Amino acid sequence: MHIENHPILGKQLQEPVTFYFNDQPYKAYTQQSVAAALMANGVKKFGLSRKLVQSRGLFCSRGRCCSCYMTVNGEDHVRTCMTKVEEGMSVYPNLEDPEVRREKHGD
Ligand code: FES
Repeated sequence: MHIENHPILGKQLQEPVTFYFNDQPYKAYTQQSVAAALMANGVKKFGLSRKLVQSRGLFCSRGRCCSCYMTVNGEDHVRTCMTKVEEGMSVYPNLEDPEVRREKHGD
């Protein structure tokens, strides 16, 4: 759910863009963070913790924790709450160690 007309801030959404999460297209708007765009599209699980294998998602929303790390355009450990979404951007959840994933899938 995108907030299209905020009661105090007014109209906040800019140009629509399409980005890809797990190779599936999602709608977002420029100036949105990747995390906000995912939340607006109903995605709340951004990855798994390494030690306890529990779901991770948006926590601080200001770049202070590591809960929203994901792989964005091939770059691992990107804080998605601090990264603006772009047209054609590819985003993958942080479900396993990137080195293990590369060895398994060869990417
Ligand atoms: S949610 Fe804490 S760094 Fe992004």
